Amino acid sequence: MKRNNFLILSLAITLAAYHPLPAQESTFDRKADSVLRLMTLEEKAGQMNQYNDDWNATGPMTAKSDMAGQIRDGRVGSILNAAGTARTRTWQEMAMQSRLRIPLLFGQDVIHGYKSTMPIPLAESCSWDMEAIERAARAGAAEASACGIHWTFAPMVDITRDPRWGRVMEGAGEDPLLGARIAYARVKGYQGDTPGAVNSLMACAKHYAAYGAAIGGRDYNSVDMSDRMLWEVYLPPFRATIDAGVGTFMTSFNDINGVPSTGNPYLLRDILKGQWGFEGFVVSDWGSVGEMINHGTVKDGYEAACSAILAGCDMDMESHDFVDYLPRLVNEGRVPVALIDDAVRRILKKKFELGLFDDPFKFCDPEREQREIYNPEHEAAALDMARKSIVLLKNENQLLPLSKELKTIAFIGPLVKAVKENKGFWDNEIAGVDSNFIVTQWEGLENKVGKTARLLYARGCDIEGQRRDGFAEAVEVAAQADVVILSIGEHRAMSGEAKSTSDISIPGVQEELLAALLETGKPVVVLINAGRPLVFNYTADHAPAILYTWWLGCQAGNAIADVLFGDYNPSAKLTMTFPLSVGQIPIYYSHFNTGRPAPDDRNRFYNSSYIDLSIYPRFEFGYGLSYTTFEYSNLQLDKKQLKTDETITVSFTVRNSGPYDGEEIVQLYLRDLVGSITRPVKELRDFRKISLKAGESMVVQFIIDKEKLSFYNNQLQWVAEPGEFGVMIGASSRDIRLKDTFVLLD
Ligand code: GLC
Repeated sequence: MKRNNFLILSLAITLAAYHPLPAQESTFDRKADSVLRLMTLEEKAGQMNQYNDDWNATGPMTAKSDMAGQIRDGRVGSILNAAGTARTRTWQEMAMQSRLRIPLLFGQDVIHGYKSTMPIPLAESCSWDMEAIERAARAGAAEASACGIHWTFAPMVDITRDPRWGRVMEGAGEDPLLGARIAYARVKGYQGDTPGAVNSLMACAKHYAAYGAAIGGRDYNSVDMSDRMLWEVYLPPFRATIDAGVGTFMTSFNDINGVPSTGNPYLLRDILKGQWGFEGFVVSDWGSVGEMINHGTVKDGYEAACSAILAGCDMDMESHDFVDYLPRLVNEGRVPVALIDDAVRRILKKKFELGLFDDPFKFCDPEREQREIYNPEHEAAALDMARKSIVLLKNENQLLPLSKELKTIAFIGPLVKAVKENKGFWDNEIAGVDSNFIVTQWEGLENKVGKTARLLYARGCDIEGQRRDGFAEAVEVAAQADVVILSIGEHRAMSGEAKSTSDISIPGVQEELLAALLETGKPVVVLINAGRPLVFNYTADHAPAILYTWWLGCQAGNAIADVLFGDYNPSAKLTMTFPLSVGQIPIYYSHFNTGRPAPDDRNRFYNSSYIDLSIYPRFEFGYGLSYTTFEYSNLQLDKKQLKTDETITVSFTVRNSGPYDGEEIVQLYLRDLVGSITRPVKELRDFRKISLKAGESMVVQFIIDKEKLSFYNNQLQWVAEPGEFGVMIGASSRDIRLKDTFVLLD
């Protein structure tokens, strides 16, 4: 019987390939329909059901029995967190025993590399280097696809302005334009140019939408904002993933304006599938179909499934409400079968695009698995990405770069010899993936100067806790050295999912250890390792040199050593604002002016500020130093009045006025001085990363067109309004080097 069914299916697919097509239908549409026609309602619901492998959960596991039996019965369409060609082959063989032999889709969080771990995405974003970011995603795709994975739940494109939220580590910071450019690059990196290529992954834009705006920075918390803010700030990166051809979307856990994203027809049917014409499929985040019961918008799993499918969710991750209730919802007339068919068609089309019907085991080649996961190209991509992610925050008296002639170096701190800490939160270990060898910070130093310098080590203290008994040894070690490097920060597990914190200062007694080391009079370079912006005012005020080293992945040690000794001149710039205090949050550069803009010293009634603290952050969006210096001059606009169908060419000169070759990320900010609604004091509207040899100059040009002047007005129309605009060329959002204005005519 099964054999006949398979023959019928094969015949149907083959015949479907030769029907005359209405213009907008694709071959994949037709093939998907040919399968759809053969499916029972239960099998359709099965395709919309995703289970976690029966190990290593990335969320609260639901009790499910006999996964193998459910797969054979066609009740499972996808499995997440199954890792390796052997494991995925096992499950796929079970799917081949089902009536219609529809292949399973294997998904996993390949967020920043796979076996060769890349820097955390927030670190990568500070490179502002789209090619490097795309290359890093490509390396992760090549490795994961060689290990049986078809689909990554990435890129995470949530804009956020709140470092208390643990998942800032997973995104690209606070700015919609930069976030959109990076989202596009990551989708291109994961998916490549040929859908279904065996070294690519289908990508997933997540978490749709506005997950990063959770009240209080508390993960999973509610979001409340105007539709205007949603469209202006939080949707652009999602729109960019559509432009990049992203295969899937994932709904977010949060409710937005009172409606859970997973049951939100405005987000899913109106915007995503309607206005944006998205043809892929939407998977819920872990259990978020069933979690609508907790949200209080449905009373049980039956109503949750109804709400989600009506809203436009196509696949249910790990709440099994779809597979349990959709057939009944259709039979009881609550849900039209056409909605089920649309969801299943979307899922089947992706399985056809990936080539899984032609060869369900095409991603299960153990030979390729071995070849790809130890591919030196990926380690090279990881090193390049890591070097470009390190932000130089301070460098008094050019303490850095260090000389390779130093005789004795003390490397101190709880993260110097840490191994897995360098991987950050999303490291696939949860899916049984043991990353490639990590070059620790200590090994990086050894590799660089181990043969020429005496290297001394002391732990000094723990990351957390109040123990100071390691200080004496650390001070004693420091006293013997020509220079001290201190590596401090968070645990990697202190940021990431479900890791929101009310205190973003450097934990434990690590800054006290710094104070003790500074007492020795030795020069101290501080490395800060974290998944989020931290508050470290003592360090920022007293350490002569500071590098923000995030979590840099498998090449952490080599990248840090390259920067410390000048083999790479740091070029990264912050993509999130670093506050002076947690009390400043939310704090971001593109704020409105208010009616009483600060700082205004006339009197406190005239400025929106704190009585106990500056309104300025510790380090602003776009900030980052280099070992060299750059001078900006000669700003010119080719016209000062612009008709709406014209463009303005902005040009200026940048000169490397310092002693080292280096790269500079030049930033174009615009300000709409008078609008129909309040407009930000500045908005990033373009940027360019340029490379200049010492003494070299370059003329940089930006083109300003109507698009760069447009915004969503209160009627949600995308408009550019006539009037005066400010042009600012910045080395950061606060370090504005050149200014001018122009007028947009009616
Ligand atoms: C998690 C995360 C999501 C991830 C999914 C599968 O809860 O929110 O980002 O892709 O579950 O691991």
